[in-house]
Amino acid sequence: MLTINNLSKIFNQGTINEKKALDHLQLHLEPEDFVTVIGSNGAGKSTLMNVIAGTFPPDQGQIIIDDKDVTKLPSYKRAGFISRVFQDPMSGTAASMTIEENLIMALKRGEPRRLRWALNGKDRNFFQEELKKLNLGLEGRLTTKVRLLSGGQRQALTLLMATLKKPQLLLLDEHTAALDPKTAEKVLELTCTVTKQSHLTTLMITHNLEQALSVGNRTIMMHDGRIILDLKGAERANMTMNRLLEMFEKASGVHMNNDRMMLAGTF
Ligand SMILES: Nc1ncnc2c1ncn2[C@@H]1O[C@H](COP(=O)(O)OP(=O)(O)OP(=O)(O)O)[C@@H](O)[C@H]1O
Ligand SMILES: [Mg+2]
Repeated sequence: MLTINNLSKIFNQGTINEKKALDHLQLHLEPEDFVTVIGSNGAGKSTLMNVIAGTFPPDQGQIIIDDKDVTKLPSYKRAGFISRVFQDPMSGTAASMTIEENLIMALKRGEPRRLRWALNGKDRNFFQEELKKLNLGLEGRLTTKVRLLSGGQRQALTLLMATLKKPQLLLLDEHTAALDPKTAEKVLELTCTVTKQSHLTTLMITHNLEQALSVGNRTIMMHDGRIILDLKGAERANMTMNRLLEMFEKASGVHMNNDRMMLAGTF
């Protein structure tokens, strides 16, 4: 479904600040894979998502989605089939617009601009049905401005917007990290439900090792722009957090003080 070939990205090349954020990275995802991505700060996780989404071009390598080479496709064209949710609950929705205005934008993504604002009763019913599934009482608040919602409500809405028009690929960059634990759990649950129901292919960055092992069907660990561990099947099912920490230390040569660092998000 997604094939990444020999992908490299170097920031500030030729300067004292040169940084190889992606180093000849190889990755292949099957349709409906849900891959969790872990790794230390600066490992290259967000850069990988940025290059997949076309935020900036790679220095080397290809990104192939469903047999189509998208490496040179501009990000606004990729937005038609790649959806992203970021850590900041304020970033994914337009605060000064209503819930239904945000949803219509998401629904008409990729369509000609003049059609984007046409909102009919059928759309409204559809939005209400979808909002009901979030179980946050938002179905009765279609004309509420998004700025009046809580961070958790906004992030749930962002997730709904990202998946309303089924994307070929869903990219989640620590999308629950800024929420309180209870809300984070709820948004994660929603993530699991929607990805399963819509048969999405998903990459999810997380600093929470427990989440990384319990959600999805595969876990990759990045270090210095490379994938240093790739867990699936029985090996993943039998993996413990302590063992994962040990494997990280062995593969990367970096020693952690304790596994709490990884769980606390400073890993
Ligand atoms: N736009 C940029 N310009 C210059 N350097 C960058 C840029 N984006 C990322 N980098 C550098 O590339 C490296 C990888 O960064 P990246 O954001 O991908 O890490 P990450 O794995 O997402 O880390 P974190 O867990 O802290 O979010 C870092 O050294 C970072 O400073
Ligand atoms: Mg990051």
